[in-house]
Amino acid sequence: MVDIIVSILTSLGYNKYIYYILRKVKPVAHSMHLIISLLIDYIRQTSKGSGKKNIPPTYYKVQTQSFLSDFSLVGYINFYLVKSLTYLKNDETILEIGCGVGGITLHLAEYLSKEGLYYGIDVNSRYINWCKKNIGRKHPNFHFQKIDVYNSMYNPLINKKITNVNFPYKNNTFDLVFANGVFIHIQPQVVEHYIREIFRTLKKGGRLFLDMALFNNFAELQNYRKKYPRLKYCNFNYYQTHATINKNKPDTLVLYKKDYIISVFKKTGFTMEPRIIPKGTITLKIKYGNKKKVVKKYLDIIICYK
Ligand SMILES: C[S@@+](CC[C@H](N)C(=O)[O-])C[C@H]1O[C@@H](n2cnc3c(N)ncnc32)[C@H](O)[C@@H]1O
Repeated sequence: MVDIIVSILTSLGYNKYIYYILRKVKPVAHSMHLIISLLIDYIRQTSKGSGKKNIPPTYYKVQTQSFLSDFSLVGYINFYLVKSLTYLKNDETILEIGCGVGGITLHLAEYLSKEGLYYGIDVNSRYINWCKKNIGRKHPNFHFQKIDVYNSMYNPLINKKITNVNFPYKNNTFDLVFANGVFIHIQPQVVEHYIREIFRTLKKGGRLFLDMALFNNFAELQNYRKKYPRLKYCNFNYYQTHATINKNKPDTLVLYKKDYIISVFKKTGFTMEPRIIPKGTITLKIKYGNKKKVVKKYLDIIICYK
C-alpha cells in the first residue's frame, strides 16, 4: 500500500514527501498490517463456513507474498509457470526449496498423482509446521522438513555462519528441483552451496527451475529503480558478484550478476548452460476458477538440466 502511495506521489511530482513516508509512515503501516492481519484471521476463524480452510493465516501470507495479494491465484500463476516451463508430469519426484506456506504446494497437491512425490524444505519452522498439518496430513506423498540455514528475515535466531547445510536427501533423487521467490533472499555463499546440492540431488536429466533478480552491470542495476517503486529511493550496495539494498540485513533483497551465476553453474558440474528467460518477457493468460488474468513474470527465470 505504501508502495502504491509512493508511486502516485512520484508521478505527481511530490518527491519531497516521499522520504517522510518511507522513514516515518512505513514502520507504522507495517504494524497496522500486523494488527489488521490478526483481526482478519480472528474473523475468519470465528465465522462459520468461510470455506478457506487451506489458506494460511494472513500473517504468514503477508510474509511470503504481499498483504493484498490473492494467495491462491498468485500460487496458481507460479505453479503454472513451473509446470509448463519444466514439462512437469504428475508422477514425478520433486523438491521445492523455500516452500513457505505452500503457495505453490497447494496446487501441486491437486496436480500430482499418488505415484508423484513432493518434498518441501524451508528455514522457517512455523511455515513447515503449517504445511505438515494442512497439506501433509491429507496428502501422504507430500513431505516437509525444516533446514537450519541462517536468514535475517525468516530464520534469524540461529548463528549467522550457518550457511552450508546439505539437503537431507540422497544423490540422484529428484526429477525436478525448484524454488520460487527464494534466491532473491539468499546470499552468495548459500547460493553456491545450494546449486551444488541441487546438482547432487537431481537425477541425470532432471530439471531445475529458479527465479532470481539478475543484472549485467551497474547501469542496468539502476533500471530496477525505474520499474519497481519500492527500489526507487534505496541505495544499492554493489559487490563483485551481487548487490543488496540493506547492509545490515543483506538477505532483504539480493540481486545477482548474470555472469557470476552462469559461472557457478559451470563450476558445479552442469554441462549445459542455463536457459535464462529475462524478466518481463513471459506473458501468460491464466484462467483460474472464474478469474481471467494476463500476467508477467518480474524476475528472471533460470532453467537448467543435469
Ligand atoms: C517470498 S517467500 C516464497 C515462498 C514460496 N516459495 C511461494 O512461492 O509462496 C521466500 C521463502 O523462502 C524461504 N527461505 C529463505 N531463505 C531460505 C533458505 N536459505 N533455504 C530455504 N528456504 C529459505 C523463506 O522462509 C520463505 O518461506
